[in-house]
Amino acid sequence: MSTVTFFRGQQLPLEMHKVRIIQKLNLRPIEQRREAMAEAGYNTFLLRNADVFLDMLTDSGVNAMSDQQQAAMLIADDAYAGSATYTRLHAKLVEIFGMEYFLPAHQGRAAEHILAQGLVRPGTVVPMNYHFTTSKAHITNVGAEVVELITKPGLEVTSDHPFKGNLDVAALAELIAERGADAVSYVRIEAGTNLIGGQPISLQNYRETTELCRKHGILTVLDASLLADNLYFIKIREGEAADMSIPEITRAIADCFDVIYFSARKLGFGRGGGICIREEALYKQLRGLVPMFEGFLTYGGMSVREMEAITVGLDETMDFDMIRQGPQFIAHMVNELLKRDIPVITPAGGLGAHVDAMRFLPHVRQQEYPAGALATALYIASGVRGMERGTLSEQRDADGVEPMADMELVRLALPRRVFTLSQVEYAIDRIDWLYQNRDLIGGLHFVEEPEILRFFYGRLEPIGDWANKLVAAFRSDFGDSL
Ligand code: F0G
Repeated sequence: MSTVTFFRGQQLPLEMHKVRIIQKLNLRPIEQRREAMAEAGYNTFLLRNADVFLDMLTDSGVNAMSDQQQAAMLIADDAYAGSATYTRLHAKLVEIFGMEYFLPAHQGRAAEHILAQGLVRPGTVVPMNYHFTTSKAHITNVGAEVVELITKPGLEVTSDHPFKGNLDVAALAELIAERGADAVSYVRIEAGTNLIGGQPISLQNYRETTELCRKHGILTVLDASLLADNLYFIKIREGEAADMSIPEITRAIADCFDVIYFSARKLGFGRGGGICIREEALYKQLRGLVPMFEGFLTYGGMSVREMEAITVGLDETMDFDMIRQGPQFIAHMVNELLKRDIPVITPAGGLGAHVDAMRFLPHVRQQEYPAGALATALYIASGVRGMERGTLSEQRDADGVEPMADMELVRLALPRRVFTLSQVEYAIDRIDWLYQNRDLIGGLHFVEEPEILRFFYGRLEPIGDWANKLVAAFRSDFGDSL
């Protein structure tokens, strides 16, 4: 492990890699950005990437690969069945997680689909620390209920709790007592709560939650998509782990679970996914779904080149220097925003910086989607694309009632090894300008609202003329500048 991780009084992160391939970016003038936003139905998912300057929508599938990953792609073994590439990936997963069986899938939600089809019984519950959009959609789609048991600090926007992603073990015990263990299809823990600030789970909580499940014979499932950041936080925040290596922490977590699934668009820095399984019987129970929905058992919809890259990416994830870059850049961004009094989720988590739109835009009602409005305004003011993680990302219930999200967040994801610190500083400056001009920003309403996963492709419009007013204010402050 390198010894220097921050410098200048622990203020600035120091990257232990250099950039060897670059891609040119476009920064369009604000009038063009405003037009592009209108064409995209005020939904950042519908923007063309060519119109985006810094793409902080997600880190999914867009982390920078290493030279070793690129090199490995050249030795990929193209075979429908029995590819040596698959054997290498499988062996790496066995080495890291210690589970013998693996089912490949083309990405994380495909793994969720297989788990939901194979393990979730209608009328049962799937308790979890917190839901993710696709995981919930697959579970409810087969007629089961998602029950969220996040501990109280998890829903507090500002906190100094080191593990806000922890599951409330007492609440789980109560639920099991009430409904009976048979009514629980499995317990899912997300290693880092995507929708509420990328907050980590402690090793102790992994152990306590899964011990309780084992006592009741309940299957335990880890969503390891965000595991890399969680490993970093356990290492630096949990006393007992300070002297453990990253592979040791990984194995200590894995040992708690029956099943581990992941999106390799995040974990492994490639594009793919899959399900690691401890017991042969369970593997055999799920196996048939892979050729039906994904592809043969030795690729599951992934390209062999990506599988090679994932194998190396998983190995690199066991390197502290590699996994600290993301959370340290995020911590820098969060600290700089806090210095400017901009409301953000604290403590800094994984995945990205999460701006609290509810406090940023207190004058915009939740029904008018403050997080969606702020993401729109940020793109217009800066060309930075963030993601709404609030009420827009929720789904109407069976009676058509729109649930209000627990939090209204704009997530500014920092794909690993992609942006420089000066680009992060640019984003901070423009968020600061928006904060000074926040009174100008109004709400949004739907003009086209899809029934399922509406946030992906729904179209909206500003309520009133605020987008034009924002452009005018920008021109008056910045002159001809972009
Ligand atoms: N689970 C978690 C915790 C995720 O963050 C994601 C994806 C998935 C499952 C689904 O994986 O995209 O490969 O199908 N999160 C992405 C994001 C989309 O932007 O946060 P996938």
